[in-house]
Amino acid sequence: MNLIIMGAPGAGKGTQSEMISAREKIPAISTGQILREAMKAGTELGAVAKSYVERGDLVPDEIVIGIVRDYLMSEECKNGFILDGFPRSTAQAEALEKMGVKIDAVLSIEVDDERIIRRMGGRRVCECGASYHTDYLPPKVDGICDKCGKSLYVRADDKPETVRNRLVNYHNQTEPVLNFYRERGLLVTVVGQEKVEDTTECVRKALASVGK
Ligand code: AP5
Repeated sequence: MNLIIMGAPGAGKGTQSEMISAREKIPAISTGQILREAMKAGTELGAVAKSYVERGDLVPDEIVIGIVRDYLMSEECKNGFILDGFPRSTAQAEALEKMGVKIDAVLSIEVDDERIIRRMGGRRVCECGASYHTDYLPPKVDGICDKCGKSLYVRADDKPETVRNRLVNYHNQTEPVLNFYRERGLLVTVVGQEKVEDTTECVRKALASVGK
C-alpha cells in the first residue's frame, strides 16, 4: 500500500501512521521527523531547516522534494510506504506525481483548530521518534519513553504562537492539496476523535472502504 496521510499540525498523522506502519509492515516517512533529526545532528540540511521549522513555516519545496525522492527510490519502500507530512503544497504534490510513484489513497484526518491548540499543549516526544500525550496517550512512567527509556520533552515548535502560525500555513498552503487529490479520486477523510483508539478505528474503516 502506498498511502499519504494529511491533516493539520497535531491532527494525529504521526500517531496513526506509526500504527499503520506496524500493522502493514511498511515504512512511515515523516518529513518533519527527518528534518528534526537533521537539526539535532547539526547537518547542512538541519542548519537550513532550523529557522523555518522553529518559526512554524514550511521548509522550501525543493529541499523537501529531494528528501522524499531519495526515500521513495530506496529499497526500503519497495513493498509500500506511508508519507506523513508530505506533500504540503501543490508544488510538492505535482513533484510527487512527476516521480511516477503510484499513490493508492490519501487519508485526511480532520480536527478543528481550537481542539488542536488544546492538544498540542499536552504532546511529549522522545528523540527515538515516539510521541505521547499527557492525557490522551500517556507513557507508562510519567516523562519516560515506553520504547527506549529516555526522557520525554516538549517540541520546540509546540509553543502556542508557533502552533498558530503552523495552522495558518496549513490552511493557506496545504489545504489546497486536498482538492488536488479529491480531483484524482484518491481522497478519503476521517474526523479525528477525542480518543486515539477511536480515531484508529475510523481510519481502519475508511481504508477498508477503499479496499486498503
Ligand atoms: P511535522 O513533524 O510534520 O509536524 P506537523 O504536520 O505540524 O504535525 P505534527 O507532527 O505536529 O502532528 P501530527 O499530525 O503528526 O500529530 P501527532 O500524531 O503527533 O512537521 C514539522 C515541521 O517540519 C513543519 O512545521 C515544517 O516546518 C517542516 N516540514 C515538515 N514536512 C514538510 C514539508 N513537506 N514541506 C515543508 N516543510 C515541512 O499528534 C499530536 C498530539 O495529539 C500527540 O501528543 C498525540 O499523542 C495526540 N493525539 C493524536 N491523536 C489523538 C486523538 N485522536 N485524540 C487525542 N489526542 C491525540
